[in-house]
Amino acid sequence: MFIRGRRLRQNKNIRNLVEETNLSVNDLIMPIFLTDGKSKSQKIDSMPNIFRKTLDNQLKDISSAIKLGINAIIIFPAINKKLKDPLGKEALNKKGLIPRAISTIKKKFPEILVITDVALDPYNSDGHDGLLKNGEILNDETVEILCRQACIHAEFGADIVAPSDMMDGRVAKIREALDRKGFYNTAIMSYAAKFASSLYGPFREALNSKPKSGDKKSYQINPKNYREAVKEILLDEAEGADLLVVKPASFYLDVIKTASETSVLPIVAYQVSGEYSMIKAAAQKGYIDNDSVMCESLESIKRAGATAIITYFALEIAKLLRNQ
Ligand code: PBG
Repeated sequence: MFIRGRRLRQNKNIRNLVEETNLSVNDLIMPIFLTDGKSKSQKIDSMPNIFRKTLDNQLKDISSAIKLGINAIIIFPAINKKLKDPLGKEALNKKGLIPRAISTIKKKFPEILVITDVALDPYNSDGHDGLLKNGEILNDETVEILCRQACIHAEFGADIVAPSDMMDGRVAKIREALDRKGFYNTAIMSYAAKFASSLYGPFREALNSKPKSGDKKSYQINPKNYREAVKEILLDEAEGADLLVVKPASFYLDVIKTASETSVLPIVAYQVSGEYSMIKAAAQKGYIDNDSVMCESLESIKRAGATAIITYFALEIAKLLRNQ
């Protein structure tokens, strides 16, 4: 028999009818880079159109995001160098940039979901996600600090805390700490499968959080390992995570697919800074078309099985979806 697959592709209506993947504004989580002070907006050279902004300016972006229908933001702090120390003490400062930002955002926009990053790298003078001692990243000591950091974020109104550090056992400990303090409604979105990727470079430029020594290979997963990623997915689900993150997204679609089939939790894919920058740079050179590659990249991530996507394209794609 001669099968004519093209029958289902012959016009726009039939193509629409059989379309399998639908990207919606509901799927988007918008990252924002915060810096201290007033009315500042600083360019990030490696990330065209993305800025490090003070809270007053970020509130304008959040308002635009809400108008476009975006449900959630994830906030990352660029901490003043003078406030960084080897213990990352600023991470536990209740008057710090993040607690202040969370409460201001939630006061002004109670409905937007505020997700916070739980890790020490923006605060730690070593630039590592955990405490560094004699060349080793300490696990259990770091987890204790992360529990306190997560509780502070919850206290100031974070809806979801997102440990991105890859220490062992932190999800169960954070859940326990949150519950003990009565924050049983605060969800945990755990970076379960976070790879030691070279695609985080522009993000580290944005936050000035590059590790001073060594790399993150003793805690983030080897990009060559698939089975190990599945193990981390299973562990974080068992420890009580509410949502699981796979990061980066585009080079790891196999992991997103398996995660979505193996776990019953929502899978959040993080299209990281390097993925964004590659598309932007090529588009600016005229080598590819920005809008269609942006859509294709996000649709592919959804097709693989992601429930939601953290993406620096959030505002741009939300505008495009609105005008479609
Ligand atoms: C660290 C953290 C990183 C990103 C999010 N949280 C960087 C890292 O692990 O070095 C990277 C995100 C991106 O590249 O967009 N806690």
